[in-house]
Amino acid sequence: MKHVLDITDLSVEEINSLIDTAIDIINNKEKYQEVCKHKKLATLFFEPSTRTRLSFEAAMLELGGSVIGFSSASSSSSSKGESVQDTVKVVGYYADIIAMRHPKEGAPMAATAVSDVPIINAGDGGHHHPTQTLADLLTIHREKGHFDNLTVGFCGDLKFGRTVHSLVNALSRYTGIKLVFISPDELKIPQYIKTDIIEKNGMPYVETQTMESVMPELDILYMTRVQGERFFNEADYIRLRDYYILTPDKLENAKKDLCIMHPLPRVNEIARSIDSDPRACYFKQVENGKFMRMALIMKLLGGI
Ligand code: CP
Repeated sequence: MKHVLDITDLSVEEINSLIDTAIDIINNKEKYQEVCKHKKLATLFFEPSTRTRLSFEAAMLELGGSVIGFSSASSSSSSKGESVQDTVKVVGYYADIIAMRHPKEGAPMAATAVSDVPIINAGDGGHHHPTQTLADLLTIHREKGHFDNLTVGFCGDLKFGRTVHSLVNALSRYTGIKLVFISPDELKIPQYIKTDIIEKNGMPYVETQTMESVMPELDILYMTRVQGERFFNEADYIRLRDYYILTPDKLENAKKDLCIMHPLPRVNEIARSIDSDPRACYFKQVENGKFMRMALIMKLLGGI
């Protein structure tokens, strides 16, 4: 039995295989309609979500399976004091696989100690979000055709943005990747990511506060929302939330084939007028996420 807590729980070969499966699903949807018949997915979401929860549910339904679960801690018995481990142990009697989101870093890992079914981390605090990374990787693959030799800019909340941490980790396994981190001082990429992933893998990187100065170099611009829910001080959040707003004038010197990504939800950090720019890929990420989650569910249930 395999759990996916972190993107490195999947080898590069396994990710390549998931990408191949996702592309086959896109081209041959009917082939997969009954692959998970009589199987159940439980979505245990202790923290709000639109894309991740609903795309997991859509993925399982499109595979012919069923879905049970809850969408907030308040509608589960955790509101009565039940532990994550007891919740997961119990749900293992009802479901064949669990996708779990929790505000506390490490909660899905603690759950694996007692779980009799595979657990997929659907986001734990400011830590990891491996299935968003799978969506991001399929998007990069479909837009660029490769992962090597890309200059990837990450902009916004790089401190709390778990999607950034997971994607940096994934990219560290390819060659010739250059990282550009654009953030205010207070929201810089954590030191442990620099030490344990970036520097350990000899990846070149720069840190800057201005988007315009680095824009011409970028192959990918990964925008992020400032994660208000993880701030201790509301005044700091209000001061930082609109630090970067991507508007058409900021793209004047950008590459013609720049890929603009964002895990969503968006607040103000990408102007609506960018949505019609052919370089905007953030809604493609949403759709790609469903296909990669279909491929992952099948893999973990032994279907591929
Ligand atoms: N990208 C993402 O995790 O979105 P949700 O919070 O809506 O699931």
